[in-house]
Amino acid sequence: MTVTIFVPRDAAALALGAEKVAKAIAHEIEARGLDAKVVRNGSRGMLWLEPLVEVRTEHGRIAYGPVKAGDVKGLFDAGLLTGGDHPLCLGLTKEIPFLRQQTRLTFSRCGVTDPLSLEDYRHYQGLKGLEKAIVMTPAEIVKEVTDSGLRGRGGAGFPTGIKWKTVMDAAGPQKYIVCNADEGDSATFADRMIMEGDPFVLIEGMTIAGIATGATRGYIYTRSEYPHAIATMSQAIEIARAAGILGPSVMGSAHAFDMEVRSGAGAYVCGEETSLLNSLEGKRGIVRAKPPLPALQGFLGRPTVVNNVISLASVPVIMDRGAAFYRDFGMGRSRGTIPIQIAGNVKYGGLYETAFGLSLGEIVDHIGGGTASGRPVKAVQVGGPLGAYFPRALFDTPFDYEAFAAKDGLIGHAGITVFDDTADMLKQARFAMEFCAIESCGKCTPCRIGSTRGVETADKIRQGIEPEKNKALLADLCNTMKFGSLCALGGFTPYPVMSAMTHFPEDFEPAPMVEAAE
Ligand SMILES: Cc1cc2nc3c(=O)[nH]c(=O)nc-3n(C[C@H](O)[C@H](O)[C@H](O)COP(=O)(O)O)c2cc1C
Ligand code: SF4
Repeated sequence: MTVTIFVPRDAAALALGAEKVAKAIAHEIEARGLDAKVVRNGSRGMLWLEPLVEVRTEHGRIAYGPVKAGDVKGLFDAGLLTGGDHPLCLGLTKEIPFLRQQTRLTFSRCGVTDPLSLEDYRHYQGLKGLEKAIVMTPAEIVKEVTDSGLRGRGGAGFPTGIKWKTVMDAAGPQKYIVCNADEGDSATFADRMIMEGDPFVLIEGMTIAGIATGATRGYIYTRSEYPHAIATMSQAIEIARAAGILGPSVMGSAHAFDMEVRSGAGAYVCGEETSLLNSLEGKRGIVRAKPPLPALQGFLGRPTVVNNVISLASVPVIMDRGAAFYRDFGMGRSRGTIPIQIAGNVKYGGLYETAFGLSLGEIVDHIGGGTASGRPVKAVQVGGPLGAYFPRALFDTPFDYEAFAAKDGLIGHAGITVFDDTADMLKQARFAMEFCAIESCGKCTPCRIGSTRGVETADKIRQGIEPEKNKALLADLCNTMKFGSLCALGGFTPYPVMSAMTHFPEDFEPAPMVEAAE
């Protein structure tokens, strides 16, 4: 029987040499006249093991990693096709602790299947949610999503069902589903992994959203820095269209739905939903004032659902397994699972899907394994560039929207950046202000001007110029930005700045004279 060898096609694996590894494996198969084939799967999300090569054996899939092209000959000599022993052998993939301890609902197929095989997709529960949705009324679908407790995974945590209901109830000759795949937050790659590793789940989720709200067209808005995701998503859309999943009659039903991928130039503010809509319409990516809500007047002024990739990709499993199944995971008002992305100075970086509720310390110390440098963890920034820096003293905070908000933090898109004790938190605070100054759309003064003044003030603190007065000024600037900005770019930049000042006051003391003179 033909043996299947899996080599990821995910961008992270490609960056680490997966293409060369795949070619070397194909070469060995041919040179040795073996009955084996290579399937290019998505990533399992264990980035320190990429490129992770797997072989399907009678006992299950056996993993090897990280594999370099130069290792391939030795792997074949060691009996790769039967899961032979080798220093790179990691045993059964599903038994690797990082993977075994996860609850993979949204990412259940990612890394398991050939992303562009509809056959694989169906084999692993794909399209079951859509099949159910087709025979339900829009109100029933919306109720199921509402009851599941699903909240937007893009950052704001707004209940997805309520947003869908607003669009369902809105009158309009044309409605739209817009998938926010801009993924601008630092330390985040979950959206990209889904688009490259299981694109049909996003197509299925968007189609269900269309049926629920009466929208017949969908757009995936992503950034040009994601060429592999764009290519895979576009191919998957064509395959789905050819199979009758997309088009005038979704899976033979009376519902029409079709979609396409659009790419932007990659401005952080274009991830903000109204700015995204402007960009999608071909205009400058500048934030629109709300109201009107995009749900009522969104793309081209029509009722529009704007949802993050993970929000939409979580819908198929909810429809398939039911709202109660999904809602049973999690804590408080944070229901279901969340794909946590662990990055920065960390030993085991990658994607870890789990129910809400793990403590930050468990995630960083146990799952992430502490820093890659081996030095003590000093701070963790959760939620991208607008997220707060948490010190070890806050490591008991459970991963939950409300628990983080109660400690002046946010979960955002669930990206975590780890820093060791060499991090300079005044520098990080300055960076937050600088990032805001560069990325600001320029529409409102507190953000546009405040961020530049923030950079100057941080520099004065560093130089020891009236440090107490300038620290008070920085806090005052933050207060103005927090309450006077139109969107969360200006409004949340104070979180990293103030958390750095509050939790690491020693870093805001003037530098010793030697450094100041440099
Ligand atoms: C500056 C800024 C950048 C944002 N970037 C993203 C992004 O990259 N992806 C995303 O899904 N949401 C982003 N958001 C949040 C969106 O405005 C919006 O809340 C989200 O797309 C709604 O989808 P959800 O309810 O599924 O989370 C950003 C918001 C702001 C203020
Ligand atoms: S806060 Fe900044 S990014 Fe947001 S609308 Fe105002 S100027 Fe634009």
